[in-house]
Amino acid sequence: MKPFEKLLLENKAWAREKIQNDPEYFNRLANLQTPEFLWIGCSDSRVPANEITGTEPGEIFVHRNIANMVVHTDLNLLSVLDYAVHHLKVKHVIVCGHYGCGGVKAALTHHNLGIINKWLRNIKDVFRYHESELNQIDDEAQKLNRLVELNVEEQVMNLAKTSIIQKAWKYENRPYLHGWVYGLANGIIKPVYEMKPGSHLDPIYEYDDL
Ligand code: CO
Repeated sequence: MKPFEKLLLENKAWAREKIQNDPEYFNRLANLQTPEFLWIGCSDSRVPANEITGTEPGEIFVHRNIANMVVHTDLNLLSVLDYAVHHLKVKHVIVCGHYGCGGVKAALTHHNLGIINKWLRNIKDVFRYHESELNQIDDEAQKLNRLVELNVEEQVMNLAKTSIIQKAWKYENRPYLHGWVYGLANGIIKPVYEMKPGSHLDPIYEYDDL
């Protein structure tokens, strides 16, 4: 059996098991999507949103990219965010990074990775904002993990800089924004940052005609 054929076989077994436990399972999910959470995570195969949070299909709306970035020119991210916030009306948006992130690690090097340079440039900016703190850390792994935490914090702030979030905060007092970091070594998620609805940024980022 080829590796991809195993996936299709496992899928059949999974669907069969779901129906055995709950005959209405797929009928219910096919007709309704009401997740409370939007998850913006890293594409890393070791950080699957549902599995590590013990949630089922239908509970989390998911967007993943290299190093869980919120980039304001990323039409994909913005579309997901707008749909989740204004149509699905999620109550929480979670940016979840992970220690040992390869994307963040690559951003700390000087390697030319072609088109990926442009994506990692956003993480290099985060490094520059926090350079004085990060340069005091001698241990490379610790420096990387601190940058992972700071990156999550900056991406949460990037969410708050969008008119999408500011509008929902103003008129509906939601969503909560969360910055989390997952530990590959122990499977535990550490909350590192939070912004409640109505939180304030540097005023230069705030819109008044939402
Ligand atoms: Co990663």
